[in-house]
Amino acid sequence: MAVLEIKTYPEKVLKEKTAPVVDINGSIHRLIDDMIETMYAAKGVGLAANQVGISKRLCVIDVSTADERIPLIVLINPKLVEKRGSVDEEEGCLSIPEYRTKVKRAEEVVVRALDRKGNMIEIEGKDLLARALQHEIDHLDGLLFIDRISPIKREFFKKRFKKTMAVK
Ligand code: CO
Repeated sequence: MAVLEIKTYPEKVLKEKTAPVVDINGSIHRLIDDMIETMYAAKGVGLAANQVGISKRLCVIDVSTADERIPLIVLINPKLVEKRGSVDEEEGCLSIPEYRTKVKRAEEVVVRALDRKGNMIEIEGKDLLARALQHEIDHLDGLLFIDRISPIKREFFKKRFKKTMAVK
């Protein structure tokens, strides 16, 4: 297993819709293992394949906290099939370091996907899990959380980003 480099905004691969996985073979299994190790090393709650530069429709999620162990989720070709409610909570992303802001998301979602063995699974999530599922599926569709905020907030983010870049 290896820790992979995480691509950050404004890298192009993050803006592109990923391609469905057609064959869950050894190289996909290796990629999944590397993504899990990369997510834990970066202390993230989720990671999409295009965040490590691989434009494939697959992501990993672990919303465990210090108090609660929740099983790791591997989703291949995930699809959002149901959403309910709406919540506005603070969100961050490993691909947009040092920026967090409130993002409106559905409160509960149902996602259908394949697991790493190719079995069809259905995950029902609320709260943080619902947020992580929507955030990761957005990544796979080429969307970042800054694409989900108001134009004014997005302009503020872009200005701030340019300023930090100029300092570095
Ligand atoms: Co993210």
